[in-house]
Amino acid sequence: MQWGRAMRLAILGTGAMARYYAKLFASLNPVMVGRQGGSYVLSQDRDRSIVTPEFLHWTVAHSSLFDLVIVAVKWPAMPLVQSFFKDAGSDLLVISLMNGMGQEEALIPPLSPEQLMVGVTTDAVTLDHDDESGLPAARVTAVGHCLMPLIPHPLVPFWQQQLKDLGLWGSWKFLSAEAVRRERWVKLIQNSIINPLTALANVTNGEITRIPLWTLSRSLLEEARKVSHAIGMALPSDLDFRVSQLCQMTASNKSSMLQDIERRRMTEIDAINGYIIRTARTVSLQAPTHEALTQLIHAMETHFDAS
Ligand SMILES: NC(=O)c1ccc[n+]([C@@H]2O[C@H](COP(=O)([O-])OP(=O)(O)OC[C@H]3O[C@@H](n4cnc5c(N)ncnc54)[C@H](OP(=O)(O)O)[C@@H]3O)[C@@H](O)[C@H]2O)c1
Repeated sequence: MQWGRAMRLAILGTGAMARYYAKLFASLNPVMVGRQGGSYVLSQDRDRSIVTPEFLHWTVAHSSLFDLVIVAVKWPAMPLVQSFFKDAGSDLLVISLMNGMGQEEALIPPLSPEQLMVGVTTDAVTLDHDDESGLPAARVTAVGHCLMPLIPHPLVPFWQQQLKDLGLWGSWKFLSAEAVRRERWVKLIQNSIINPLTALANVTNGEITRIPLWTLSRSLLEEARKVSHAIGMALPSDLDFRVSQLCQMTASNKSSMLQDIERRRMTEIDAINGYIIRTARTVSLQAPTHEALTQLIHAMETHFDAS
């Protein structure tokens, strides 16, 4: 299937994921939107490329300039994303690959449910610095899958064709909205355990399972499981095993929340554990361990620059 003209693609964000997707979709000449653009180095296995995407600052970028937008910012940037989509036309297709939950509540309106695809990805990319060139960099540490809900937007078949043309059809999968929502909940719960515990203990994903703080993982999982059950979300019965397995598979990685704390950046805690707490309240439940960890992370953020 052909698109009548070149598809105009924007990637919101200039961080690790945005750098990876700007390289992956380089043939579509994506425009990166953020606070600071410029060249960067993207390394993956033994490959090392210098990438210089077109860049627009938030103050001049507007959704009307684009057909397709991939949202790849961290949650503290959401007000800028909302402003970018203000007055968005109904032809626009938007893909979010952010962690955490609440994208629909944050972006509908101005977007309609028929134009927002909130997916989940197991790609893993870390911010880096390239000593050879002195440029900012990103390192791809795992190429996984992007799971997308199949929505009836006219641009979806064209996007699927682009993925096929780029040889990405095997790694971008389109599933029912319900199946993707379940995967998002699984990832939400994994993140709600691994992220705050590693950030508080200042340890890697592998080390966290070997220290006393890990005993809290059981209550975090049980509280989240009760909430998901109360909203009718059926989760895999081996979720505790999956969380430990993920820690082992990513043993040497620092979680994104630990990296945010190290960089003195506001974290995504409110969209991860905070989302579980808010959902618990809607079904008259409580999630006290999630609340305690959220408070502790907020205490660590107190002296960070919120901008
Ligand atoms: N990295 C991964 O492996 C991975 C995997 C799966 C999902 N995710 C999710 O993908 C999303 C993006 O992650 P990432 O790893 O690319 O994050 P990142 O490298 O930290 O980049 C974050 C982006 O958000 C912007 N941002 C953050 N706070 C902001 C603020 N207050 N105002 C304006 N801009 C702000 C940053 O802009 P500045 O650089 O100008 O601060 C940057 O463009 C997150 O939801 C993350 O959880 C990441």
